[in-house]
Amino acid sequence: MFHFTTLPPLSLYVHIPWCVRKCPYCDFNSHEASAGLPERQYIDALLTDLDLELPAVWGRVVSSIFIGGGTPSLFSAEAIDRLLAGIRARLRCKPDMEITLEANPGTVEQGRFREFRAAGINRLSIGVQSFDDGMLGKIGRIHGRREAIRAVELAHDADFASFNLDLMFGLPEQTPQQALADLTTAMDLEPAHLSWYQLTLEPNTYFHRHPPELPDDDMLWEMQRLGQASLAERGYTQYEVSAYARNGMQCRHNMNYWQYGDYLGIGAGAHQKLTDANQQLIRRSWKLKNPRDYLAGAHGETRIGGTSEPDAAEVVLEFLMNALRLNAGFTTALFEQTTGLSYERIRPTLDRARQRELLEPDEPWRCTELGRRFLNDLLAEFVPDNGHA
Ligand SMILES: C[S@@+](CC[C@H](N)C(=O)[O-])C[C@H]1O[C@@H](n2cnc3c(N)ncnc32)[C@H](O)[C@@H]1O
Ligand code: SF4
Repeated sequence: MFHFTTLPPLSLYVHIPWCVRKCPYCDFNSHEASAGLPERQYIDALLTDLDLELPAVWGRVVSSIFIGGGTPSLFSAEAIDRLLAGIRARLRCKPDMEITLEANPGTVEQGRFREFRAAGINRLSIGVQSFDDGMLGKIGRIHGRREAIRAVELAHDADFASFNLDLMFGLPEQTPQQALADLTTAMDLEPAHLSWYQLTLEPNTYFHRHPPELPDDDMLWEMQRLGQASLAERGYTQYEVSAYARNGMQCRHNMNYWQYGDYLGIGAGAHQKLTDANQQLIRRSWKLKNPRDYLAGAHGETRIGGTSEPDAAEVVLEFLMNALRLNAGFTTALFEQTTGLSYERIRPTLDRARQRELLEPDEPWRCTELGRRFLNDLLAEFVPDNGHA
């Protein structure tokens, strides 16, 4: 059914599952580090995890690393240094590869960013969320405006040519003017990249159980309109639903996800996706989610939470859920290379979407403004039960 002739680029995701405090909106695999961090033991577990994955990626080159969480900036620079040295000793790495680390402004002190830089981290992703002290309090952040600005200044001082700021909009009782003020402050700090997310109420979070008052749809629409105009005016080009970059400084690691590349995932709850050209299939697997279970099982197959081999219909949907998030969309060649499937499989459904003006008429295949607004409806066309693709 699949026919893979080449392998897509390969990246590596490393999950660090601890935070100072759990934010009320967050459904990431993150746990309060109340009893201290088992830093040394966890780095050992990560490297053992990687050792056990090596046979599946033999001879392949890693083109980016993303250390996410949780709050990886809670870890010491020595621990991150040992992690990166261990990765380099095990995997062939592209010489100029992007190595990102997520940082929370409440966990950075002078010197820490410089040490991360010296350890080989060359991109930071700083979780600012807002620069408004009142708003930061409402969403339970451990830092205020001052710490957020200080973190960005430290990133500049430590020579991070490329860093990202995470911001959210649609916060409790936020006005469009407040959302715009956050963006303006962020842009004044000159990050190369901005991720601008709409706050969503995720199941299994405190906010889901105790919903705060959120701006209505008209307000959200106004925030988006004002925000997008302001970002464009300041040279931040949107390239994905929530991602904006200056001077082509897009996140290479995330681009690989959106272009349906392969990735290894090590650490508690980490997911991975690998193309197997010998068996002609795509294999997904994920690690045990709870850090304690993961640590206990790290020495063998017991660290695996589950595996799956998506069928062709699932692969089509996964590909489109990612690639249609990109403003540049995708080419027929990318679809065929990364899914191992013929373009003919999706052509009729794409044709219908083009007729409904949800997709642009010519390749690369990408959403129109209407398509972006109704992306979920568009994707639903590819769900097998709908009787289409
Ligand atoms: C793993 S966190 C990043 C780093 C760090 N943990 C922090 O929060 O500072 C990834 C980002 O996802 C965004 N995010 C998390 N939960 C969200 C939600 N419910 N709705 C929208 N964005 C969310 C936040 O902007 C957050 O910075
Ligand atoms: S600091 Fe980041 S990962 Fe941790 S709970 Fe808050 S949003 Fe989630």
